[in-house]
Formats: sequence, structure tokens, C-alpha cells
Amino acid sequence: MAYDVIVLGGGPGGYMAAEKSGKAGLSTVCIEGRAYGGTCLNEGCIPTKALLYSGKMYLHAKEAAAFGVHAENVTIDNAAVIDRKNKVVKTLVSGVEATLKAHKVEMVKEYGKITGKTAEGYTVEAGGKTYEGKNLIIATGSVTSIIPIPGVKEGLASGYVLTNRELLDLKELPKKLVVLGGGVIGLEMATYYAMVGVETVIIEMLDHIAGTTDKDMSKELMKICGKMGMKFILGAKVTEVKGDRVVYEKDGQISEELTDKVLLSIGRRANTDGIGLETIGVETNRGAVVTDEFMKTNVPNVYAVGDVNAKIMLAHVAYREADVAVNTICGIPDRMRYDAVPSVIYTLPELSSVGETEESAKAKGLDVKVVRLPMIYSGRYLVENPGENGFMKLVFNKKYGTLIGAQFLCNYSSEFIATCAAFIEMEFTADDMKQVILPHPTVAEIIRDAASAY
Ligand code: NAI
Repeated sequence: MAYDVIVLGGGPGGYMAAEKSGKAGLSTVCIEGRAYGGTCLNEGCIPTKALLYSGKMYLHAKEAAAFGVHAENVTIDNAAVIDRKNKVVKTLVSGVEATLKAHKVEMVKEYGKITGKTAEGYTVEAGGKTYEGKNLIIATGSVTSIIPIPGVKEGLASGYVLTNRELLDLKELPKKLVVLGGGVIGLEMATYYAMVGVETVIIEMLDHIAGTTDKDMSKELMKICGKMGMKFILGAKVTEVKGDRVVYEKDGQISEELTDKVLLSIGRRANTDGIGLETIGVETNRGAVVTDEFMKTNVPNVYAVGDVNAKIMLAHVAYREADVAVNTICGIPDRMRYDAVPSVIYTLPELSSVGETEESAKAKGLDVKVVRLPMIYSGRYLVENPGENGFMKLVFNKKYGTLIGAQFLCNYSSEFIATCAAFIEMEFTADDMKQVILPHPTVAEIIRDAASAY
């Protein structure tokens, strides 16, 4: 008998789709080849945050004297850090499995491959068994992009070059780490390693770090990271990984960085190799499954959610896409919007962003008004971040007076960026924002101050 829904992949997109589908009373199977929770829980968002929290504890303990607290001989035990991370991961993965079970989702711990179409729907083969489903939700995630230069494949095979997956399990700290790519993964991993005293060098192809984020914040973040000991080589193209060094070209000159380990973090690509998309004719674009605003592919009753559609590779986007896909299957009107997706780079301080930056808005020809405030406007910030130079920006569409973007370079801004996401979704003006009461004393109250300064 055919299932109502087959979910291929058990990461944030897949497990959320399966959970929602089961909750809606649809017979559901969720096929996952590695571990439920996917990249996010097992080797991405969560484990990175576990390491970063240990790193922060270590730094706070070392700097405690400034707060009147004296801690002697502070040391870090990286193996214990990794063990704690593993415990957190285990707890969360079993939580996901328990939730799926509670919603009567059948779990199949095997790699699945789409094998064809039947009168009732589609077939997926996993662990020698064939599963038939009326609807298929593809949620196979993404994999690390491999830079096509000499020495990388060999380096990966020998363990000299690592992806975030292996780095998150490295119990012994290297003396030096060279990071290829100054994007999200590169910066977060480099933050941990710099915090615990590893010499850290980031080689980035562009003339700035942190991708498309606000330029002023990217510059300030680079300065702060520099103070933490990170070294940046910008506008540099890595040409080879050779023995114990990384070779790169910058301004026409070839140079080398001798290092103990290399982290490869130059981006991720949709994981669609070998999953059988061609057997049912699913359209892809540069390897990613093409979807519309209902998460439908070109094939009837086949959906794709999460990194595999490469729209925005973030776990929280995958969650929402999963909602939309299952609602569409259930006939509940819903559609995906990508205008107010918050994103956070978990550096120290965090760089949180939602909607348009000043540059992206201007590039779209929008007339904008930007309110910029130093974070020390917030008393709570000053209390907890002495000597820090964080700042924030609100970007308004001048024509309508509505908020269209917000960025914060400040600790724990990840916890309140959602406030601005909600304001953008609700098309709030500065006046609307001022009517919302924010608790005092919090760092988030600065949003109200900035709205008042409009
Ligand atoms: P990314 O796209 O954020 O950054 C890759 C960087 O590598 C870019 O700055 C690019 O210019 C640079 N680059 C590319 N080729 C290069 C080369 N040959 N030499 C030097 N630099 C080169 O990709 P990343 O950091 O690997 O992250 C992958 C995905 O995972 C992203 O889509 C990200 O959104 C997601 N992610 C999100 C997190 C979060 O939300 N906090 C945490 C970790 C990952």
C-alpha cells in the first residue's frame, strides 16, 4: 500500500516535513541514510554553537577580572569540549526521533533512491526495500563544495584538509588552522579556534568577509576578529594544497601559508547526486531542485524543501518550506516568502541580519533612509560588553516609511533579530514600531530607540 507521503532526507527540512505530515494524519515514512537531524544537528548549527559556547566560557573566565571576578589558571580541554558537544547532539537527535515516533512517522535508517513512477505515485528504494508514496518530499540537503585545485582531494583523504564535519570532531587542537573561505562556516569555526588560542588564518577570494552582509559591519567584524588574533588574506585565490602548506595567488604574486590543518569552507551545493531525480524527470538548475513558492517541483506531487533547492541554505528556511509543502499537500493555502529571512553569523560578536541591507536596497533602486546607532545606546549592552564597538542599522523604504531591513553587530543579537523580521513581515513603519513595548533593560530596546530616531 502506498504511503501518503515519502520524505527523502531527515534533516531540518525532512524531519519537519515528516513531523507535520504525520501530525496531519497522513501515513508518512522518513528515509534518512546518516542520522536524523541532518547537517544542522549533527555537524552544523548545533555542534558549532556548542563549541562556541565553550569558547565563550573560556574567554569570559580569562577576562573575568574586569568584572571583579578572579579565576586562576584557566585552561581549555578540547576533548572535553567535543565530548560535551556530542552529548548535546545525541540528546537532540533522540528528541527528533522521539517526535517522529510520536507522530507515527515510520523511520527508515538507510540511503534512499528514487526509482520511478507507478499508478499511485512514486517509488523509493532503501535498504533493499521499495517504498511507494502518493507524494514525495525531497529533502536531501547539501554537501561541502570541493575546490577543484591540486591537492585538495588528497588532503581530504589524508585528513590534512577538513570540512566542518571532521573539524567538529577534532579532539586535539592544531597549532595553526588555515581556513579557505571567509563566509559563514569559515568565520564561525575560525572564531572558536581563535578563542582557544589556535593561530588562525582566513584566505578569502573577495575583498571582504561575511558575504553579502552590510559592508560597514563586515569591516568592523574583521577588525574585531583581527584583535582576537585572526589573520585575513583577502582578494586571494587558493591555487594548490601542497604537503603541509596552502599556496595562493594575490595581486599576481604566489605565496604560501604553512599550516597544521586546513578547513574547506568555500560554500555548499545541493545534494542531488545519485538520488534518482532523473528517473521521474525532476528539473534541476546547477544541481539544485527547482521549486516554486509552494515548494512544488515540475513533477506533480513531488516537492523539495531545504538546502536541496538551494534557495537559501538555512535550517529555519527549511522548516518553513516544510510547512508550506505539507500545507500544500493538505490543501491548506500557504506560500513561501523569502523577504524577511533572518540570518546570523555566530562570531564574537554575532552579526545578525534580516531583509535588505543599505547596499542591497540601493542596488534595487529603492530610496532608503538608514538609522544607525552605536550599541552603547543600550544600557544593558554597556553593562555586559565593556569596550565593545557594536552598532546596528535599520533600513527603511522612504517611499512608504516601512522597515525593510535590519542588521546588528552585537552579542546575542541572534535572540532578537526575529523582532525585526516580524516588523518587516508586518510592513511596520517607524511609528508602528514605536507602539510596541520592548522590555527594559534589554539590548533589544535599541530597536525602539532607532525607530524613534527615524
Ligand atoms: P559561504 O557561501 O557562506 O562562504 C564561502 C566563502 O568562500 C565566500 O566568501 C566565497 O567568496 C569564498 N570562496 C569561494 N571560493 C573560494 C576560493 N577558491 N578561495 C577562497 N575563498 C573562496 O559558504 P560556507 O561558509 O561554506 O557555508 C555554507 C552554507 O552553510 C551557507 O549557505 C550558510 O548559509 C550555511 N551555514 C549557515 C550558518 C548560520 O546560519 N549560522 C552556519 C554555517 C553554515
